[in-house]
Amino acid sequence: MQKNANTKIRLAILRGVNQSCIILLISAIESSMISKFTIQKIMDEARVEDIVGEFVNLKKRGSNLLGLCPFHNEKTPSFNVNPARNIYKCFGCGKAGDPVRFLMDYQQLSYPDALKYIAKKYNIEVEEEYRSDEEKQKEAEAFSLTESIHIANAYAQKFYSDYMLNTESGRIGLAYLKERGFIQATIDKFQLGFSPEGGDVLTKQALKDGFQLDVLKKAGITSPKENSTYDFFRNRVMFPIHNMTGKVVGFGGRIMIKDEKAPKYVNTSESEVYQKSKILYGAYFAKNEIRKKDECLMVEGYTDVISLYQAGIENVVASSGTALTVDQIRLIKRITPNITMLYDGDAAGVKAALRGTDLILEEGMNVRIVVLPSPEDPDSYVKKVGAEGFGAFIKNNRKDLISFKASIFADEAKSDPIKKAQLIRDIIDSIAKVPDAIQRSVYVKECAQLFDMNEQILITETNKVRRKKQNEAASEERKQQQIEVREDQLPESVHQENLQPPAISGLNLVERDVIRILLEFGNWEIDAEGTPISVTAYVLEELDGIDMEHPLFKKVLDDIRRQFANGQVNDDQYFISHHEPDIASLAIDILSQPYSLSENWTAKHKIIIPDKKSVFVKDILSAVLRFKQFRNIAELKKVEQLLREIKDEAEITRLMKLHILLTEQKKEFAKSAGNVIYRPTT
Ligand code: UTP
Ligand code: MN
Repeated sequence: MQKNANTKIRLAILRGVNQSCIILLISAIESSMISKFTIQKIMDEARVEDIVGEFVNLKKRGSNLLGLCPFHNEKTPSFNVNPARNIYKCFGCGKAGDPVRFLMDYQQLSYPDALKYIAKKYNIEVEEEYRSDEEKQKEAEAFSLTESIHIANAYAQKFYSDYMLNTESGRIGLAYLKERGFIQATIDKFQLGFSPEGGDVLTKQALKDGFQLDVLKKAGITSPKENSTYDFFRNRVMFPIHNMTGKVVGFGGRIMIKDEKAPKYVNTSESEVYQKSKILYGAYFAKNEIRKKDECLMVEGYTDVISLYQAGIENVVASSGTALTVDQIRLIKRITPNITMLYDGDAAGVKAALRGTDLILEEGMNVRIVVLPSPEDPDSYVKKVGAEGFGAFIKNNRKDLISFKASIFADEAKSDPIKKAQLIRDIIDSIAKVPDAIQRSVYVKECAQLFDMNEQILITETNKVRRKKQNEAASEERKQQQIEVREDQLPESVHQENLQPPAISGLNLVERDVIRILLEFGNWEIDAEGTPISVTAYVLEELDGIDMEHPLFKKVLDDIRRQFANGQVNDDQYFISHHEPDIASLAIDILSQPYSLSENWTAKHKIIIPDKKSVFVKDILSAVLRFKQFRNIAELKKVEQLLREIKDEAEITRLMKLHILLTEQKKEFAKSAGNVIYRPTT
């Protein structure tokens, strides 16, 4: 029922009806949203390491987990996952958030979809509740073009499937797939279908169901030609292409008869949601098994993936007939470092096998190659020998790149010294691309043995190639490093080396530190002359209504004051998942910085950071004091400025009094500051 209502709304939006119509429509049917209770439950259950771990290979590093950042390209991991706080943060590119934010950013899910994704993962029942018109409208407006395209693709997928199962001509497609040995369960799993021959059967139906022609064209379902309503796919067996979360982003359509003039496959053109170079066919179905087996099998075609999967070999993806791209390799790299490429035994297959392999080496991954006996492809071969035979063949025949290259060119090279030298050069070029020195030396040894060569010569040659490459990359890298140094700054509180009253421009730093205290320790207890009170209570009392200058800090402080007035003191999770995105990202930024990284910083900057609990009270006292000190100095300056400008006698007297008061305060602060021991530095 709910699903129906949602679909109607989405369709209305796709149809492009005007805004007031949408609002009418929404108020008529869409009247619920995920309940607060469910959201809370989802937030409680969601583990950042689980959710992120689905997409990123994480390694334990102290109490945190570390992986390669999925949001930017990097060779050394700086993507930090903090299970204790349930947040992640990349210290390279700065992306950060909680599990929901990760799904929204990385998988481009909407907020409710991200929640539902988590609910499904943890088997949480999603309860819906009433929502106001205003809330409804907000959601309606949030439908982006991307989402419209996703909806159109899902619609088309369902259409092709239904058409194949329920129409006379569609059943020809079904018969073809069955004939090729695909069972119904496989056909359902991969959501295979058939596109009608008619010309515009799908487009017409979609328009009738409320889709905008523009969206259909952008999705690649309808011919892109202006004013045309021609179906892009006609009379073909349809293979939907899914992204990593299982959304259909495009299609491959296979012709059923041999036709020299028509291409065997027609594929969705590049679109808003479908970028061929960033998609691996089958990855959505394969990712769990790839992780389990710690290996990814790479084949060329749609049918290879499906056949192997049906046979029970599920860790398989396809590059869809083109050379591997770096983006595709990185999709795998986040799950496993091991790729095994399976290729047809013909010359074209071997050539194809060599494309992309150097890229894999460069990414620091392990690539192995298996050439199937001619004229088999993985699809036909697994049908012939079964899963066990197939597995055994892989095990016995896979070669690393060096021996693979050596073996295919060995015959030519044996009798021709020039060819042999070329081949060795080629192999050295590949070895030089391996980032890991140990791995490189293993390859060098292997190459020396294979060609009966002096190992030292090969090492020297490899190093030459590497040096040349490094020189070329040097200037680029220098630029990169400069950025890293800037982003690697210490948190302010660790910066404080002595207590010289810092420059007035540092007020925001001091404010930030007080906010940090409130977020990090707000619900801890502090001893106030014998009675325990919350840190929040203590800090708010000390601040005595003083506002912060920085608008975002002021906003957080206002929020804390409001909550406190209602008897509520929140923990760090409240701020991390705050409904105001700017508060949430500030919280994540602040909370992901300090202590978990102390090992790194200690090593790099020779700073000893004492145990958190032991300095916790002093930390609070000094942060509050510093803040007040700063405010005091700022006010003094303001008063002095006014005294220079103002001519009114009475006002001058008032300001003079104020000045005396502030100066006294200043002395007080300086005295107390002397009594507070700040974080020691060496
Ligand atoms: P294959 O010709 O090996 O296709 O091309 P296949 O999937 O194994 O198909 P069957 O077994 O003959 O039915 C490998 C991949 O290259 C892409 C497709 O992604 C295909 O899966 N390809 C091939 C095209 O995109 N267009 C073509 O015309 C041919
Ligand atoms: Mn094939």
